[in-house]
Amino acid sequence: MDKKETGEYVTMHDSRSGKEFRFALLDGSVGPSVIDIRKLYAETGYFTYDPGFTSTASCDSRLTYIDGDEGVLLHGGYSIEDLAEKANYLEVCHLLLHGELPTQAQYDTFSHNITTHTMLHDQMQYFFRGFRRDAHPMAIMVGAVGALSAFYHDVTDISDENQRMIASHRLIAKMPTLAAMAYKYSVGQPFIYPDNSLSYAANFLKMTFGTPTQEFSVPDSVVRVMDQIFILHADHEQNASTSTVRLAGSSMANPFACISAGISSLWGPAHGGANEAVLDMLHQIGTKDRVPEFIKRAKDKDDPFRLMGFGHRVYKNYDPRAGVLKASVRQVLDELGVADEPLLDLALELERIALEDEYFVQRKLFPNVDFYSGIILKAMGFPTSMFTVLFALSRTVGWISQWKEMHEDPQKRIGRPRQLFLGEDRRDFVDIAQR
Ligand code: ACO
Repeated sequence: MDKKETGEYVTMHDSRSGKEFRFALLDGSVGPSVIDIRKLYAETGYFTYDPGFTSTASCDSRLTYIDGDEGVLLHGGYSIEDLAEKANYLEVCHLLLHGELPTQAQYDTFSHNITTHTMLHDQMQYFFRGFRRDAHPMAIMVGAVGALSAFYHDVTDISDENQRMIASHRLIAKMPTLAAMAYKYSVGQPFIYPDNSLSYAANFLKMTFGTPTQEFSVPDSVVRVMDQIFILHADHEQNASTSTVRLAGSSMANPFACISAGISSLWGPAHGGANEAVLDMLHQIGTKDRVPEFIKRAKDKDDPFRLMGFGHRVYKNYDPRAGVLKASVRQVLDELGVADEPLLDLALELERIALEDEYFVQRKLFPNVDFYSGIILKAMGFPTSMFTVLFALSRTVGWISQWKEMHEDPQKRIGRPRQLFLGEDRRDFVDIAQR
């Protein structure tokens, strides 16, 4: 649906000028209404001040809805719990990119389009060789995905709908290949070419953990876990990295450059880098008896330590993605043959104590998706440095769907926030000798 003029409005009384201004209330399909302030500056001469965008809707979107108070996440109206249990990742990709879950015929075509784009231009492997072997794989991903613009410039005309779609397919298809190559490069093993006979998740696992010297096989249950992790990270509304992609795209930058910008934003420990930071934190805590000491540190404003994997800008309730992972983590570890994982016991204890603590209760700080994902990824054999890469791989469909949605919006404009200026007003230049 389109945003609706409700006929209602809010009134702003300006005590400086004594004037009154009216701003229309707009309704979406569900969720809070918004105050339409697009003409605020033109009419009042004021900007709004909202660092961190805590009260600002930067766009309208039809892809993903979050009710942070209730802990609800919907893609195209379908709950994340249903999608994680009943769909596969490519179905969710179709839902995000095309707005609907695919019919069987649509699925076959879509999956064929993705599968036949998994291989990279062969020259890309020489690009990889320019990196140090100990480079963080996220550093490689930022560079390699940006470099795709130099290899696939036949689809960088963003005004062409067909090119936008092919670029989207290529990105979804090639991210697993790039991610696996970043891993292989770091461990000094040869790159493994994609295998188009495999599913999206199975192909990624083969490119990551297979070698040319022996037949690769992985249990279906493990492929399913990988696929579920991809689904849980597929999109998440206007978070920092998605907003970065939209902002970069608003200047008409090419899609590969925009996704590379999103990867950079995701890398930070306050965002996607938290899954790596959670495991580092659990290792640092070490044993259950030290949990209270670290809870105390997390509450101390003079201590930079925070509980990683805890808290969220939007969720003031349990992150439903963390709920899905928590519910399945034991079973997944069993399937992976990990009988005893002390980090899981530690994480459960940390969550238990934090959720009883007044500080966390009052601030509504709950585990987020990163809290349990790392434990599963570790059990699957991924090094911690790959965790955020897996997040980037999964989120590529969300980024590119949001980027595409922005370009399809006839009202799109370059993103250009303003500021409250606190620096010096105009002053006379002082020669260096007199300063
Ligand atoms: N540990 C301890 N205290 C916390 C934590 C935490 N993890 N998170 C928030 N708080 C406190 C803040 O200090 C603040 O306290 P105050 O009101 O006394 O000043 C209060 O809770 C509100 O926190 P904000 O920083 O205002 O919340 P914001 O929405 O800006 O930040 C964020 C959200 C970045 C996720 C934050 O909770 C955090 O740093 N968490 C740890 C990192 C993490 O897990 N990131 C992953 C996020 S999910 C994702 O990107 C997939």
